[in-house]
Amino acid sequence: MASFTVTLACANPLRLAEDIEEARRGGAGGVHIDIMDGRYVPNFCMNFAQAEAIKEAYPSLAMDIHMMVEEPFRWAGELKRLKPERVAVHLDSTPFLYRFLCQMKEAGISPGVALNPSQPLELLSALAHRMDYILLMAVEPGFSGQRMLPETYGRIAALDDWRRREGLGFRIMVDGGVDLENGGLCIEAGADILVGGALACFGQKEGVQESCRCLGRKICGKG
Ligand code: DX5
Ligand code: ZN
Repeated sequence: MASFTVTLACANPLRLAEDIEEARRGGAGGVHIDIMDGRYVPNFCMNFAQAEAIKEAYPSLAMDIHMMVEEPFRWAGELKRLKPERVAVHLDSTPFLYRFLCQMKEAGISPGVALNPSQPLELLSALAHRMDYILLMAVEPGFSGQRMLPETYGRIAALDDWRRREGLGFRIMVDGGVDLENGGLCIEAGADILVGGALACFGQKEGVQESCRCLGRKICGKG
């Protein structure tokens, strides 16, 4: 069944706890934490201390970590201590992705691979049996509030087709530019989980809870 998580990169930093609580009440299944190192992408976002505090305060929300860093192995210890439900690492962030995914799996964390809009889907084929999910970027990573690239629907459909043909179990999570219109289209194309950010869940006049409810209604029954 289709679901959505919310990216806290887009929450109001002055009322983070309230925003998370509203998202939970609005039907968000989880929280998406963007970790940036200022090198893989020219920006910074959240850190592990914040993620730990959020995980402790909201145990019912599944936490997924999106690692936008150049050397993911540097953060393997922090990830194992935090033990989120999921962690996605960018395809081009290490030549030893296979080992990274295996390490996370052994630590009880569901491993995923994040793919940028310019990266061919075929690059994932060697990892087909090692990744639990694909974090499909619908915008260039690093900044919130960008519009979803229209190529995204075709990429979702191709991934969905691939997993059906080969009987693969990975899930498809879409990140970047999700809004109330394209969210439903992504689910129809085959996505399983949406990351709701600046255009869907936060900063809307309806407030966080109602915006989340609307997103939930848009994707309900479409998966
Ligand atoms: C972008 C991040 C996203 C982003 C999503 O690099 O990975 O999680 O914050 O925000 P929106 O939905 O506003 O693009
Ligand atoms: Zn993200």
